[in-house]
Amino acid sequence: MYSSSFCKVYDAFGWNYFPMYFGELLLAWMDEEKRPAGSGRQIRRCLDLACGTGVLCGILQENGFDVQGMDLSADMIAEARKNYPGIPFDVADMVTYHPEGRFDLVTCTGDAVNHILAEEDLLQIFRNVYDSLEPGGYFVFDFLNRKETIPGEPFEVDYSEHIRLQLQITGEEELVHLHIRTLSDGELLFEEDIREKYYEPEWICRAVRACGFSIISCGGALDHAAGSLTEEELSALAGQESSATWILAAQKPEQEPC
Ligand SMILES: C[S@@+](CC[C@H](N)C(=O)[O-])C[C@H]1O[C@@H](n2cnc3c(N)ncnc32)[C@H](O)[C@@H]1O
Repeated sequence: MYSSSFCKVYDAFGWNYFPMYFGELLLAWMDEEKRPAGSGRQIRRCLDLACGTGVLCGILQENGFDVQGMDLSADMIAEARKNYPGIPFDVADMVTYHPEGRFDLVTCTGDAVNHILAEEDLLQIFRNVYDSLEPGGYFVFDFLNRKETIPGEPFEVDYSEHIRLQLQITGEEELVHLHIRTLSDGELLFEEDIREKYYEPEWICRAVRACGFSIISCGGALDHAAGSLTEEELSALAGQESSATWILAAQKPEQEPC
């Protein structure tokens, strides 16, 4: 669980970069998804899982979507409610979360799925998402690519003249530990320990498919909106793509199997 200090500075220290980037990709992709046959699913109602400070929810709302968010951390949700007072937010665990109603789009960004340390829990999240989508609805999320986020020496990032972040990624096997120290003029403000788990893209794709989804895009970008990818195409991508983060877009069938 993130500390309240970390949640308060999450946006100010630039951690909101990823949901902003993801928001741009998502808006372009949704446009593209509708274009080919002119008959793509109309997206209206959206849910952002593990929404953090609510950045992606804010972008979706600004672009006319009906959106709600949820996060395990009450401190994150306090920030989200402060930032976007018009958006409904829940504090909940996405492993057991069953929101009311159904959605056209469910998102989950900022390697939030890698915060789930048990495979069975991640599978349960995928099942929950499937159940909370309308037929034909989309699930778009990102996850860490193990090959590009390799544990190593500590490194430092100057956020501003006064604020410096010291980061170290360590890990064993598929577990990774991110240690962040935040210093203000050399004095320690707070330390954060984040534990994550790497999932192989093949495992993620198999799990998503096992829940009933078809995969329409998977890789370092959200740009393969050309129809459902085959198992072979996905394996080829897993061998070629080099990007610290992969994005997967999946679709629930228009007609649910009997
Ligand atoms: C790196 S942050 C990403 C936040 C936001 N999605 C973004 O892109 O900035 C990961 C988020 O996952 C949330 N989280 C971790 N485990 C969760 C769970 N089981 N259920 C809901 N949220 C969870 C954390 O509280 C945190 O806000």
